Amino acid sequence: MIALRHLFGIAELDAEQIRYLLQLGASFVGLSRRSIRKAPTLRGKTIINLFFESSTRTRTSFEIAGKRLSADVINISSSTSATKKGESLLDTALTLAAMRPHVLVIRHALPGCCHFLAEHLRETSIVNAGDGAHEHPTQALTDLLTLQEHGGFVGKTITIVGDIAHSRVARSHLLAARKMGYRVRLVAPKTLLPRRVEQFGCEVYHDFDEAIPGSDVLYMLRIQTERLTSNCSFPSLREYHEAYGLNGRRLAAAGEQCLVMHPGPMNRGVEIASDVADSAASRILDQVEHGVAMRMAVLTALCGGGEEA
Ligand code: CP
Repeated sequence: MIALRHLFGIAELDAEQIRYLLQLGASFVGLSRRSIRKAPTLRGKTIINLFFESSTRTRTSFEIAGKRLSADVINISSSTSATKKGESLLDTALTLAAMRPHVLVIRHALPGCCHFLAEHLRETSIVNAGDGAHEHPTQALTDLLTLQEHGGFVGKTITIVGDIAHSRVARSHLLAARKMGYRVRLVAPKTLLPRRVEQFGCEVYHDFDEAIPGSDVLYMLRIQTERLTSNCSFPSLREYHEAYGLNGRRLAAAGEQCLVMHPGPMNRGVEIASDVADSAASRILDQVEHGVAMRMAVLTALCGGGEEA
């Protein structure tokens, strides 16, 4: 049993903690497939989801995870919070913490916001649900749980394709790969790659077709147009799809064993062809399903460690 104080990122977790979270997550997968999808694990706990950026998967799965474990869950979005009236992020967080929730799940555009808030919040655990282009730890954990349930990830090669420069998911995987024993290949035009990304120990490709042989997973990313600056550009979406989109030809070249993943939201016809997204190789909806179990595991570890689970 391992109890976590906060979940800021994969950077702060060691391999033993990640293995424990994956084991706990696996134990929760079955709960969501039963006819009665409820357990008492988090009865009496209060969880606040505070989202300053849009989200379908992460926010909903944290809400369902908390409710399936009998916690009281409150959702707040930036559009309905007092930040619209000029309140700072810190004052909002201090206000919510004064209501004594056990866990605050935060998504915000500011990298490092969870570390910052944790310095001011004494008793509330904080979960990073995505902080700018920094980290998205529960997505990386969700992906590993999905792979664990579909043949494993140790020794495998995950090829991440697309807007690496703005991807908190890619960063979390680069950190997780070293700890958990899998390889990451990155594929992107130079304008969508962070500088000195090789320091993470990954292979870098600019030609998608060259990166396909030996890939066990093709992990596609959308272009984060909301974070693009003028020096991160590319000619057009059509040309982008030609060069970096996953189509049937590339999937066939990858071989029958290769899986397709995507953290969502997808832009069909841009980074992934529609028929590939819906193909037998696609684990995209499995990722969504495992996201609920993984967030149950994270909330449980934050609220005491999972002895009851
Ligand atoms: N993967 C992910 O973070 O999706 P949402 O933006 O819908 O939460």
